[in-house]
Amino acid sequence: MLWREDRPMRIALLGCGTVGGGVYEFVQERTDMEIAYVLSRRPRPELNCPVTSDFSRIVSDPTVDTAIEVMGGRQPAYEYMCAALRAGKNVVTANKQLMSERYGELVQLARENHVALRCSAAVGGGIRWLTNLESTLDMEPVLRVSGIMNGTTNYILDTMTTSGLKFEDALRQAQALGYAEVDPTEDLNGADARRKLVISTNVAFGCVVQEPEVTTFGIAGIRACDIGAARKMHRVVKLMASARLDSGDVACYLEPAMMPQGMHEAAVPENFNLISITGMHIGKQSFYGQGAGRFPTAYNVMQDCLDIRNGLTRFYTDKLRPARVDNSSIMRPYYVRVNGMDRWLQTRIDKMLDCGIITTPVAVSEIHAWARERKLTETGGFLASLR
Ligand code: NDP
Ligand code: HSE
Repeated sequence: MLWREDRPMRIALLGCGTVGGGVYEFVQERTDMEIAYVLSRRPRPELNCPVTSDFSRIVSDPTVDTAIEVMGGRQPAYEYMCAALRAGKNVVTANKQLMSERYGELVQLARENHVALRCSAAVGGGIRWLTNLESTLDMEPVLRVSGIMNGTTNYILDTMTTSGLKFEDALRQAQALGYAEVDPTEDLNGADARRKLVISTNVAFGCVVQEPEVTTFGIAGIRACDIGAARKMHRVVKLMASARLDSGDVACYLEPAMMPQGMHEAAVPENFNLISITGMHIGKQSFYGQGAGRFPTAYNVMQDCLDIRNGLTRFYTDKLRPARVDNSSIMRPYYVRVNGMDRWLQTRIDKMLDCGIITTPVAVSEIHAWARERKLTETGGFLASLR
C-alpha cells in the first residue's frame, strides 16, 4: 500500500522485544513514520502508542500501511504476515525462519497483492546485504554467494580463539548481548545460518531451494583442541555458508571451515558477519557489519521502511524457479575429530594430527551424509573443511 505524501507512514509493530524495541526507539525520533499499534500479548504501559493483543484490529485498520513483523517463530507470525499482505499492507520482517520455509508462497502473495515484502534484517543483521545483492542482479548474473551469516556462532568461535573462553561461557555472553535465538540450539546446529543461506541463494539465483536439502553441520561439538589444531595449521575456524550455481542445480551447504589466517573471513570478530558475492564481471565483493543485536538489526528494518516510503513495492527478485540442491561436485580435504575410526574414515586419512585427522579431498555431500549417519555432533565429534 502506498501512503499519502502528506502523512507519516503508519506502522503496525508486531512484537516489541530486542529488535522491535530498537525499531520503536528509532521511530520515536522521526516525523515521517509513526507507530499506529504495537501488537503485544501483555500490557506495555511504558510504550507511548496504542498497544493491542487483537491482530484483527490492526489488519482491518485502513490507515495502517506497513506491518513490521519482529515476533519471530512460525505461528502466529505466518498467519499475521499473510493476512497483512492480503489486506494490501506492505510487510517488513526479520523472520528468517518464515522467509526460508515459506519463501515462494510469501513472495507470490506479495506480488499478487502489489505490495512490498522486504526482509533485509533476516540475513546479516545490520548489513544491507540483500539490497546490495538485488542491485548487483540488476547488472549481471551472480555465480556464487558465501560467508559468515551467524553472529552468535562467530562470537563463540572468536572469543574461544582470541581469549581462550570456554564454549559455554562464550554462548552465555552471546545470549546476554541479545545475539542468540530464543532457542540457541538453532544458532549452534547451523539451522539459523542455513535459513539465511536459503534466502540468499533463492534471491541470488532466482530459484527456490528446499531448506532440508541444504546439508548442514554446526559448531555444537567444537572443543578447544579443534581451535588449537586450526591454529597449528595457521588457520581459524569459522562457520561458513556457501552456494553456487552448478549446471542448473545449486550447490548449497553450511559447515565449519578452517580458513587460512590472512583471509578476510578469518579476521571477522565478535558478532560480525561477512557475506560475499561473486558476479560475472565484478568478481568477489564482500559486505561486512554486525550480524546481530538490537540496533544494527533495527537499523536494517528501518532502511526497508524508508525504501518503501520512497516508493518501493516489490521483493528482491520475482524469479521463483524450483531448484535441486546437489553438493556432490565440491571436493575438499576435511579436519575430522571422532571417537573411534570406522572403515569409511580409515580409507580417507591423509594426515594424522594430535587430536583428529586430515582427510584426502571428499565430496561435501558424502562427508555430510557420513557425519549424519555417525551422529558426529551427538557423540562429541567435529569436522571442518580446509579452504
Ligand atoms: P525477542 O524474543 O527479543 O522479541 C520477540 C517479541 O515478540 C517479544 O516482545 C514477544 O513478546 C513478542 N511476541 C512473540 N510472540 C508473540 C505473539 N504471539 N503475540 C504478540 N507478541 C509476540 O526476539 P528478537 O527481537 O531477538 O527477534 C525477533 C525476530 O528478529 C526473530 O525472527 C529473529 O530471528 C529476528 N532477528 C533477530 C536478531 C537479533 O539480533 N536479535 C537479528 C536478526 C533477526 P513477549 O515480550 O511477550 O515475549
Ligand atoms: N541469532 C542470530 C545470529 C540473530 O546470531 O546471527 C541474527 O539473525
